[in-house]
Amino acid sequence: MTSVGPRTTRDSPKVTSNLFSLEGRTALVTGGSRGIGRMIAEGFLAHGARVYISSRKADACDRTARELAELGECTSLPGDVSTLAGVQQLAADYRAHEPSLDILVNNAGAAWGAPFDEFPEAGWDKVMDVNVKGVFFLTQALKPELAKAATDHLAKVVNIASVDGLATNPWETYSYHASKAALIHLTRRMAVRLISDGIVVSGIAPGAFASSMNRTARDSADEVAAHLPAGRIGTSEDMAGAAIYLASRAGDYVVGSTIPVDGGALISVPATPPGSGSVPA
Ligand SMILES: NC(=O)c1ccc[n+]([C@@H]2O[C@H](COP(=O)([O-])OP(=O)(O)OC[C@H]3O[C@@H](n4cnc5c(N)ncnc54)[C@H](OP(=O)(O)O)[C@@H]3O)[C@@H](O)[C@H]2O)c1
Repeated sequence: MTSVGPRTTRDSPKVTSNLFSLEGRTALVTGGSRGIGRMIAEGFLAHGARVYISSRKADACDRTARELAELGECTSLPGDVSTLAGVQQLAADYRAHEPSLDILVNNAGAAWGAPFDEFPEAGWDKVMDVNVKGVFFLTQALKPELAKAATDHLAKVVNIASVDGLATNPWETYSYHASKAALIHLTRRMAVRLISDGIVVSGIAPGAFASSMNRTARDSADEVAAHLPAGRIGTSEDMAGAAIYLASRAGDYVVGSTIPVDGGALISVPATPPGSGSVPA
């Protein structure tokens, strides 16, 4: 097996202040128009990356890219990652701008809630197509660009899962729970394969972050916070910090793991209180 990075502690260079730098790196953040994707895009820009954001609604994506351009170079690439055609179009649009890709963040996601007896096929397919299928095929489509970026540093794929993939909560979001558990295992499987191409795959399992998907955290932050050991919901800096860690040299040795960033939701009793994960869209 090929090893990546320093082989022994004696080979290790001294730790420098560049450990978390993304200077000169390119990043594509799906679902970057709002919510968690936007938080990550902001963090990457602040740390020196050139960032591409994507989402279906072109107007919203363009607007966010314009707003984020205050922090650095940010480009809107609207697209739908729930279909193979959409994934291939997005990869082609990215290639028209850049020959290589240092960091892919598979963040775009969807949720659906319905009582067990009524849960519809549409609510199954919509969620699985974005949260699982899109992640696999976009990573596959951009693998040549990721491998090309892996020269003197490793390329990164960061998958945004959820605490709902690690524990249950009272919401009847059957396909969402299943999709995030699938994504956590897909992250492991892809990591084992892609590391030989210099691509490190890892993940983040967010807890409660204010967004259109988690309206409970957005609209009733104090109520949600009262159930969390940290006593508050997550902020942009909490999410950006985890993503920057995984995307930079600092996170090179996190291979196939998904890190909970949840203010302690997973270790509290009950394990995942209402509103600490995602809620039905
Ligand atoms: N917020 C939380 O508390 C929380 C907790 C755990 C995990 N997460 C995960 O974090 C990720 C982001 O969630 P969020 O809370 O930020 O949700 P959000 O505010 O609803 O944002 C979702 C983003 O994904 C895009 N998107 C949705 N479907 C898409 C598709 N088919 N193709 C391309 N883009 C698509 C949306 O834009 P368009 O609608 O324009 O496409 C939007 O930019 C998701 O994977 C979610 O499961 C969130």
